[in-house]
Amino acid sequence: MNPFSRIILDWYSENERDLPWRRTRNPYAVWLSEIILQQTRIAQGTAYWHRFMERFPTVKDLAEASEDEVLRIWEGLGYYSRARNLHAAARQIVEMGGFPNTLEGIKALKGVGDYTAAAIGSICFGLPAAVVDGNVYRVLARHFGISTPVGTTEAKKEFTALADKLLPPDEPARFNQGMMDFGALQCTPQNPSCLTCPLQPSCHAFRTGRVNLLPVKKPAVKVQERRFSYIYVRFNGETAIRRRGPGDIWQGLYEPLVTSPTAEDNYFSCSSPKNQFPSAIAKPTLIRSGVKHQLTHRTILADFYLWEPENRPELPEGYFWIKETELDRYAKPRLFELLLEAL
Ligand code: ADE
Ligand code: SF4
Repeated sequence: MNPFSRIILDWYSENERDLPWRRTRNPYAVWLSEIILQQTRIAQGTAYWHRFMERFPTVKDLAEASEDEVLRIWEGLGYYSRARNLHAAARQIVEMGGFPNTLEGIKALKGVGDYTAAAIGSICFGLPAAVVDGNVYRVLARHFGISTPVGTTEAKKEFTALADKLLPPDEPARFNQGMMDFGALQCTPQNPSCLTCPLQPSCHAFRTGRVNLLPVKKPAVKVQERRFSYIYVRFNGETAIRRRGPGDIWQGLYEPLVTSPTAEDNYFSCSSPKNQFPSAIAKPTLIRSGVKHQLTHRTILADFYLWEPENRPELPEGYFWIKETELDRYAKPRLFELLLEAL
């Protein structure tokens, strides 16, 4: 075995993290953990994993749930297309008659790419496929002194080939998880623990003083900023929401009245066709201003308003009234949750 791989496996024997999905080889449980962990850190991910496993103990339970309910359990993790893919894949699995046990079969599931397929394949079925996530990029880039910018197709090819070469064919699960834990605990993004590192004698970055320069990142694309007003209307114990339609980052989630104002004083007379609000009405109360929400390619700045009209207003297209006490039943984007907290 390659000395690098030997060291990773030995390190893992001493430092393996005790995570609930590591106590099983149930591919459903492992798949869930991998999808959730693409979205969040271990601590929060563990809570969500338990939440899913309790509500949907088997893939059949998940497949039979409504999309609304799946989105509600996922709520707070963001990137809701992952939840919709998860739900669609559960239905695929039930249709196939069980969880696929080949890399090609696993990769055919909605929302499953090379990374997830390698993780599930190696952990549950002992398939010799190397996982290449951010941790693996970092450890390999530093140890082998590779400066190909990560995030490029070239890097993906290069790092995957190297990881596959290093993967011990009879211990793929331990090696893959060892690499991920090593990256998360020892060779961390900031201030890695080089002084106690078993790979230090052979580490190229350490030897050449380039630990803080590797891995090299592709220059980030500039994110644009957009401002919205979120208006919580309250009339007679009711409020108005709508469901976001297809082709949208928040598809299937519910939101309050939203406008995209061009000037401070015309929130309700905003005349762009998508944002028609009744004009000439009393001003709403500003609750909070400039709440920041970071998306992948966009920063949203939101102003939160409470509007308590005297008469029941007509609603823009797509909106409907619900009792305020029934708000829990609707999956909401993070910004709507923040608005409710601010109220
Ligand atoms: N992050 C995502 N999946 C993981 C796993 N199986 N082990 C450690 N960290 C992970
Ligand atoms: Fe990472 Fe430092 Fe160990 Fe090199 S010596 S592998 S940079 S922790």
